[in-house]
Amino acid sequence: MKKIFAANWKLFKTPKETREFFTQFKEVSHKATGELVFFPSAISLEAASTSLAGTSIKWGAQNCHSQAQGAFTGENSAQVVKELGGSYVLIGHSERRKVFGETDAVIAEKVAFVQSLGLIPMLCIGETLEEREGLHTFRTLETQLHLGLAKADKSKPVVIAYEPVWAIGTGKVATPEQVAETHTDVFGILKALGFETTPILYGGSVKPDNAAGLIQQPHVNGFLVGGASLEVKSFIEIASV
Ligand code: 13P
Repeated sequence: MKKIFAANWKLFKTPKETREFFTQFKEVSHKATGELVFFPSAISLEAASTSLAGTSIKWGAQNCHSQAQGAFTGENSAQVVKELGGSYVLIGHSERRKVFGETDAVIAEKVAFVQSLGLIPMLCIGETLEEREGLHTFRTLETQLHLGLAKADKSKPVVIAYEPVWAIGTGKVATPEQVAETHTDVFGILKALGFETTPILYGGSVKPDNAAGLIQQPHVNGFLVGGASLEVKSFIEIASV
């Protein structure tokens, strides 16, 4: 399966900084060993669209509403992502779930809507530290996948990003053994749901010095990178493992 290296820029980089990043990144992007996907913040999407036009580098939004338009002040439209030439929308990131109260039911609507536009949802799942320590990791992931994919079309692409909440932005990366075990579980759950060809990315404190060990684990088809994707050097090092 082709690997995917995705960058979640969260609420970082202005349009100017986005253009400057891509001017440098395009010089080294040929080193990547898989597909490259960037998720800039919403107001920098047009800068990404212009900078990446004519390249094979993909991009998308970090969130969208489950409808194309309407009286939804402050929301993002996947229709706009499509019109600007984007390919993906990140759905259900743990920060969306925790900070903005997104439920699995809302996430399922978004996944289906993104697919209906011909875009690819990248659905994020992951357990909290409490859930891992309470031995509920499998149950949490099974529930998130079962509910999040409830309205998804199996004939259209979807990508899963497994991001243990306790490893996001903490510098505490999951060990290769934990990643191997959990990705094997996620693959099993997806297979039972009829999504066995779905790529599974790992996210959570991925850095140049741990990427090589993680990519070798079973059912790890790439990464979703936060902090280390903000610099050209560290992200291309990760994407060339
Ligand atoms: P970090 O790589 O900064 O831990 O962030 C991971 C993440 O949340 C990507 O979506």
